This record gives sequence, C-alpha cells and structure tokens, in this order.
Amino acid sequence: MTRFASSVSNLRSSEIRDLMSLATAPNIISFAGGMPGNELFPLETLDKIYHSLTEKEKQLAMQYGPTNGLPALLESLSEYLEAKGLPVKKNRLMITTGSLQGIHILAKAFIDPGDPVLVETPSFIGALSAFRAYDAQFVTVPLKGDGMDIQKLKEKLETTRPKPKFLYYVPNFHNPAGIIYSEEVKRQIIELLKDQDIPIIEDDVYSDLYFYEEDVPKMQLIKAMDPEGIDVCYSGSFSKILGPGLRLGWMLVPEHIYKKCELIKQSIDACSPSISQVIADKFLREDYISDYLTTTRKEYKKRGLAMIEALEKYLPECVSFEKPRGGFYTWLKLPEGTDSTLILKKAIEKGVVFVTGKTFDPDGVKNDYMRVSFCNTDVETIQKGIPIIAEAIREVC
Ligand SMILES: Cc1ncc(COP(=O)(O)O)c(C=O)c1O
Repeated sequence: MTRFASSVSNLRSSEIRDLMSLATAPNIISFAGGMPGNELFPLETLDKIYHSLTEKEKQLAMQYGPTNGLPALLESLSEYLEAKGLPVKKNRLMITTGSLQGIHILAKAFIDPGDPVLVETPSFIGALSAFRAYDAQFVTVPLKGDGMDIQKLKEKLETTRPKPKFLYYVPNFHNPAGIIYSEEVKRQIIELLKDQDIPIIEDDVYSDLYFYEEDVPKMQLIKAMDPEGIDVCYSGSFSKILGPGLRLGWMLVPEHIYKKCELIKQSIDACSPSISQVIADKFLREDYISDYLTTTRKEYKKRGLAMIEALEKYLPECVSFEKPRGGFYTWLKLPEGTDSTLILKKAIEKGVVFVTGKTFDPDGVKNDYMRVSFCNTDVETIQKGIPIIAEAIREVC
C-alpha cells in the first residue's frame, strides 16, 4: 500500500470539486461554481495590453521574477490598495499565486498539528482545506446576518486551550453566506482580540463587486482600521476582478510575518507567474480596471437581482435567505434537518447543480443549507434554473 504522509492521508476530494466535473457536462445549468462569468472577461483589453508590450517587457514576462512580486506590480497594486485606505507603507505586500496560496502560506506559518484555529461556520471551503492540510483543529463560530456571533466568539476565546493560533474570516460578500460584516461586529472582534496574540487572517476577494455604492463605507476592512495590538494579515485577489486564470493574489502583512511568508513562498514556487504580473500591472497602471469593474458590477447586480426575484417567486415558504448585496452567492436556509444532498441528487437529475451546505461546514455535517451562485449564469439561465431547484426542494422538504 502506498505510504502517504499522515498530513495528506485524511485529505478527501471535496464535494465542490467533484461537482465541478458535473458542472462542465453539456446543458447542465450550474449554480455551483464561484467563478466569474466567462463572457465577462476583458479579452479585448487583454489583447491590447499584450500587444502593447515592448520586447523587453515580453522577455520579463517569460522570466522568473522576485519571490515577493515584480516591482512594477507591487507599485501599481500598492497604489490601488492605498486608495482603499489600506496601510500599505506600514506593512509588506507580497504577490501570491492566487489568494488561496496566501492562505496556505499563512496556514503553514502559523499551524502546528493539532493547533486550534478560529473559523466561521459556514466557511470558505478552500481555506478550510488549507488549514486541514496542516492538521488544524477547527474552533467554529456561527455566522449571523451581520457577521460572527460575537457572544460565541467570546465563549470560544475563553474556553479554547491552547489559545487559537489565528482567526480566519471573510468580511465582505461572504462565501458561501453572501453577507457583509457590520462595522459593529468588526469593532467587537477587534476589542476581543486586542493584545491576545491571535492574528486575524482577513480574506477579502469580493469587496469590489458591490451592487450598491452606499455599502462601500461599511465594508471597511479591519486591516484598513489598522487596530493596535493585533496582527492583521489581509489577503486579496485578481481572480474575481480580472480573471482566476492569471492565478494572482496578494497579501499585506506586518513585516515580521512577511519575512516568514517570503521564505515559505520561496520554497513553494519561487515566484508567481511573471506574465500574469506584467498584464495585471498594466491593467491597474493604465486604469482599465475602473471601467471594467463598473461594467462587471452592473452585470453581477443584474444577475443577483434576477436570482433574488426568481427565488422569491418560486421557493417554498419554508426556505429563507439573506438577499445578497454583491459578490457571487446566495445561501439558502432549508427547514432544520433537511439533507441538501438529497435535493442536489434530484436537481442533477433535472439538469441543475448547486453546492450543498455541509461542504462549507468545518465539521462537514450540517447540511440544511445550500449555496446557489449567480456569477456564471446569465439572467435567462437563472430564470430557467431556479424553478427547477425549487421543484427539487419541494420534492424533498
Ligand atoms: C473567500 C475566498 N477566498 C479566496 C478565494 C480564492 O481565490 P484565488 O483564486 O485568488 O485563489 C476564493 C475563491 O473562490 C474565495 O471565495
């Protein structure tokens, strides 16, 4: 028998990955993925950028680069992040191969086998898998409509020993819950973690995809609040605002954490793809990003609103959800104890896929929720697919 390392012997293919293979079958309507709409990628701009590169820039694009990122991208990205109020100069910025790599690097930097880590329930499956890969123990804090249940967080902080290595959270347009953290909840998290030696990993990949400008001020990141007495490790990504095919993310972390992260990244892949970095730099530097985000925000809003309308029209009354105000996801709450895998099986028979609730449960058990994304389906497909999902729910509930 093949003798795998104990750290990987417990790794299993996640339901979300298995579903991805179904999602590519012809004619199936997929509300499963968390990917941008294919037809929304700025292909003409990308062509234009590539063709505008000098021979020297093209050579640079094909070469290895510095581990922390190409200087030009570090400069243009710093400007982009500073405009969002992030304290770039007081921290160190590193380009990563997708933000998932940043999360992995931080997990490797902090977790010894068996270490407790604070995570939301539900939580982003990619981060859970990364933490699992380093044998973390999950200490779960339930999510409410405005963020973590602060009372529960307080209890977990009082009762978990040894104390958690970090807190991981997704502040804006949560995956899968779709919610935005309120300012009050973020303020309370800061109060609880101040001087506790428990860093925060703040994973913010969706905040540019808001439907309503008026939400922007309340989406301020804890990193931007720059609280004293807490190490905040903020990570972001080009995946949802340009294209995941570039495999480019970033992390902004305090200097002493950065030093370890840089060494870890060096040993993983030496550097992130230079060709992607050259393109992303021009995309920011020439400010193609502003118009592009305006266009994509409009389209995702259209899809999100079509999703809300269809769900309100077709779902049985026993199903409820928070209306998304941005991002990619709606998170449906089914009657307590419902097994959403049964609904999924029915839905697949009818030609529609989504993701079951337990996929996002750190304990892999609670299944009376389901995630339905509206990012990679146009309005017409949403209008066609949601009645089918509603029918599958009715057959099970
Ligand atoms: C909350 C969250 N964080 C991180 C990622 C990973 O993004 P990337 O493509 O930058 O690795 C995703 C992707 O779905 C996500 O939803």
